[in-house]
Amino acid sequence: RGKRAFIAGIADDNGYGWAIAKSLAAAGAEILIGTWVPALNIFETSLRRGKFDESRVLPDGSLMEITKVYPLDAVYDCPEDVPEDVKANKRYSGSSKWTVKEVAETVKQDFGTIDILVHSLANGPEVSKPLLETSRNGYLAAISASSYSFVSLLKHFLPIMNPGGATISLTYIASEKIIPGYGGGMSSAKAALESDTKVLAFEAGRKHNIRVNTISAGPLRSRAAKAIGFIDMMIDYSLENAPLQKELTADEVGNAAAFLASPLASAITGAVVYVDNGLNAMGVGV
Ligand code: NAI
Repeated sequence: RGKRAFIAGIADDNGYGWAIAKSLAAAGAEILIGTWVPALNIFETSLRRGKFDESRVLPDGSLMEITKVYPLDAVYDCPEDVPEDVKANKRYSGSSKWTVKEVAETVKQDFGTIDILVHSLANGPEVSKPLLETSRNGYLAAISASSYSFVSLLKHFLPIMNPGGATISLTYIASEKIIPGYGGGMSSAKAALESDTKVLAFEAGRKHNIRVNTISAGPLRSRAAKAIGFIDMMIDYSLENAPLQKELTADEVGNAAAFLASPLASAITGAVVYVDNGLNAMGVGV
């Protein structure tokens, strides 16, 4: 039987989530997607109208099939957590069952089990502010959307994951080295995500034989990264200073994710895997 993957955090064809979905599809996996509720409409419309068809092409010439797109807001675990103003918001009231618990339940009803869980989402409302100017609410929102969202997804999906399965998230080196500009508590959120990768690898490994890894990816001109505002500078910096002087493609991260999700990586868990042209290994810029 082919593997079934749920990828949370795809709303266009530019980000890492899309590339990971493609690599998994090319390896024969069935693709389920979780899309942020406010972005759902435009994503589904674009899909339907064929706007992504060019980027759906797999190495064998066929098109990636997306079996189902689920609305998801990973900052809410269950309906009781959703504030009234969000419930009433037009972009939310048009969809239903988009809290983490409900999405896991719906996937279970639809398909029974999954094998691969991918977390490719982050949000930091104050990302452009230095940490010293970040509010408590901004900091906690970054952690909620970018770190606890993974804990929650794993918690709710674990019971429907087949033993031997794998989970992957995306992190950034700003967790461990100073990257001015990656503010709003996003550096803190990535540090939490990496630490949690280890603890969750233990808990999910012992309990369910599920692996938990995170990919520390180099800079990519995604929608989220453009919102931070310094992405072109980071790409230029990497081109100049990394051991491999080429622009990083999303596909390279997608392929590493497909490897980590596959039996080829059956002994790898609790790891931060760098897919960044080697930039993390440099001590000085040259
Ligand atoms: P992206 O914009 O393609 O993906 C982020 C996704 O998160 C979007 O689809 C957005 O709708 C979704 N999202 C935001 N809040 C959400 C919520 N509450 N519930 C559900 N979905 C939500 O951008 P990108 O850059 O591909 O991001 C994917 C992951 O890669 C993130 O974890 C990011 O931090 C990480 N990353 C990105 C790097 C880059 O240079 N682009 C570098 C290293 C890591």
